[in-house]
This record gives sequence, structure tokens and C-alpha cells, in this order.
Amino acid sequence: MSSARLLVRDLVQLATPSGRDAPLRGAALSDVDVLEDAFVVCAGDTIEAVGRMRDLAALDGDVVEVDGRGLCAIPGLVDCHTHAAFAGDRVEEFSLRAGGASYEELHARGGGILSTVRATREAGADGLRAAVERHRSWMRGQGTTTFEAKSGYGLDRETELASLRAIRDAGGVPTWLGAHAVPPEFDGNADAYLDFALTEVLPDAARIAEAADVFLERGAFDASQARRYLEACRAAGLALRLHGDQFTEQGAIPLAIELGARSVDHLEATGAEGVRTLASSAVVGVLLPASALFLGRPMPPGRALVDAGGAVALATDFNPGSAFCESLPLVCSLAATQLKLSPAEALSACTVNAAHVLGRADRLGRIAPGYRADLVLLEAPDWRYLAYHLGGRLVDRVVTAGELR
Ligand code: NIG
Ligand code: FE
Repeated sequence: MSSARLLVRDLVQLATPSGRDAPLRGAALSDVDVLEDAFVVCAGDTIEAVGRMRDLAALDGDVVEVDGRGLCAIPGLVDCHTHAAFAGDRVEEFSLRAGGASYEELHARGGGILSTVRATREAGADGLRAAVERHRSWMRGQGTTTFEAKSGYGLDRETELASLRAIRDAGGVPTWLGAHAVPPEFDGNADAYLDFALTEVLPDAARIAEAADVFLERGAFDASQARRYLEACRAAGLALRLHGDQFTEQGAIPLAIELGARSVDHLEATGAEGVRTLASSAVVGVLLPASALFLGRPMPPGRALVDAGGAVALATDFNPGSAFCESLPLVCSLAATQLKLSPAEALSACTVNAAHVLGRADRLGRIAPGYRADLVLLEAPDWRYLAYHLGGRLVDRVVTAGELR
């Protein structure tokens, strides 16, 4: 935290989700305030004032000024779903998939997630720390000021806990994805693996992680196994998330609602009834269009969820297998072009609503007095370049907790 105040001045535009509510659902996702010729004052790690340049009062004390000419400010982006704690890569598998092999087939043959489990176990705690820090810096370069990351590539006690510590120590929000896949030493016996994970790993994981997540899918964990895992995690004090409806509908949405989960993530296979049920619940639908694109899968029904009054968030799903993509701006472009969300809806989805999924919407996701001083300065004449400039040069600078980086 710096002692001088930070004044970002002469911004072409400043855009922020309006109001103070979270999550934003349905039509409220479009409520974005846009100020032209704007300034922001940050005091320490907190936003102190926001307004039009003509209303900027003289500031006393030390002030560091940032020239915002040619730039637009949006809130620091919040990535509420990543798998950043991994070692190695899956470039070989990527090439095979380009030649026609399917993601699920590779997984069934012991490749896919399990090949990253081998690499992650070999990396050790120091290797994992270095990997998470490298991934964090990639994310920051794309405007992400808060990231969630899941374990799930260790699947043994030591590597799961090392993953969660590496995420926490890199400033991320740790989620225990203890039920990501059944590791090879359990020879396909998911129930025996869960016995181990819930007895040997959960008590310590619950001291580091904030939430638990499960991959509810054919070839991973079924609905009764997911229920058992999530109920135990909830009893240990963790918030709940689910990977659901990625390839097939296996009851993730009703289970999430029944257990009071924060989110169901993926939803590429969700049908009309699932859309209605999820949209009228308190559970946020986390859309991961980069993952659908990367795997050549159908896009999740983002437009239908919002039109039905639902609360949606957008995230990257950054991981080596199904979404090697750390860019929330690219995800916003996909939201506009593929999911038919407006730039305003996309902005709300990867700021305030993503912050809500992480239990932090009181401090994160808006540019307004009292919120944490997290800003992205876009090199753009209009803030909607966030979605419009497809894969282009966009992020000029990032302010995290009042520090200019
Ligand atoms: O969200 N679907 C399950 N887990 C990740 C992918 C993990 C991997 O392929 O390594 C996902 O897409
Ligand atoms: Fe994921």
C-alpha cells in the first residue's frame, strides 16, 4: 500500500457496473455507468473518489498522477474459475485433437487430466509455486486483478495441499477440486478415492481453501458421489461450486440448488429446463466460452439464461487441456460474438458477478468509493473495445490495490 494518493486523470471514459447489488441478474446486468472525461482517486488500497474532470477538486498531500489521455478505465477483472495450479503442458494432446481425437477419448485412455496430474506431482511444491506465479503474471497482463484457482492436478494429499498453498501464497482464491478425476492408484474406484480424499485431505484442505468443487460428468464423478463430496465439504465450512453440464446433463443444476452452491460452471450441455431452473435460483451460472471454443463444443446458453432473469458470470477456465487461455478480454469477445451478450453484460459478468461467486462483491468489481482500488486502463477510445478488439492489444496498465503495475 503506498502512502501517496493515486490520481488517474483525463480518462476518455470510465465504465463500471452501477449500484451496489450483487449478483446482477437479467436486465440489471446491462446497468453500466459510463463517465466521459473522467478521473479516479485512490487512497491506499481503496477508491476514494470518482467523477468528471470538471468536478475534480484540488487534492492536498502527496499525489501520484497518471495521464489517462487515450485510455478508458474499467474495474479490475475477476477470474472466478481457473485451474492455474498445474505443471507441464498438453501441446501434444492439442495437436492430436486438431487431427480429430476427442477430449473425452483422450481422458478415457489415461491422457487428458491424468497426464497433467503426472506432471504436477513431479513438479514438487517449488515447481508448483513458480508455475502459479507465472500464470498469475500472464493473467495480470490481461487485466485480471483477482483470480480464483483450483487444485485438482495433485489428487494425492501432498500435491493437493501444495497446490492450495501455492495459490494462496500467490494472492489467489483457492478452491479444493479434490474430485476432479480418479487418480491411477485407485484404479477407477471413485468411491474408494473419495473415502481417501474426504478422510485424509479435506481436514487440511478446508483450512486453506475457501470453496470446494467437483467434476460431475460421465467418466468423472456421478451425482451421488458429487453429493457425498459436497456435503462433506460444506460440513467442513467450504463454499460449494460444481463443474456441471459440460458434456452431458447429470443433475448438476438441481444438486447445486439443493445444496446452496455458489455456482454451476460450464453448462455447454444445459437444455431449456435447466436454463429455467438455474435462472430462477440463487446459484450463478459461470460461462466458460473459451473452453467451448478450445474443445470445439457447443457454446453455453448465456443469452437464454440472462433473458430468463438469471445471474451469470464469465471466466476463462484457464488450464492446459480444455482452455489454454488466460485472457478475460478474449472471453468478453466470445461472450459478445458467440453468447450474444452485450459488452455491458459481459463487463458485469467478469467483474461484480465473478466477485460475488468468490464472496467478495462488497469490495471488488466496481469503480466506486469504498471498493478496492483495482483498475484496468484500456488503450481504447471506447470501453467496449474490451469485447470488440478480438485478441488485440488492449491492456495499457493495471492498478491492483492502489499499486500501479
Ligand atoms: O474445466 N472439465 C474438467 N476440468 C477442466 C479441464 C481440465 C483439464 O482438461 O485439464 C475444465 O474444463
Ligand atoms: Fe474448469
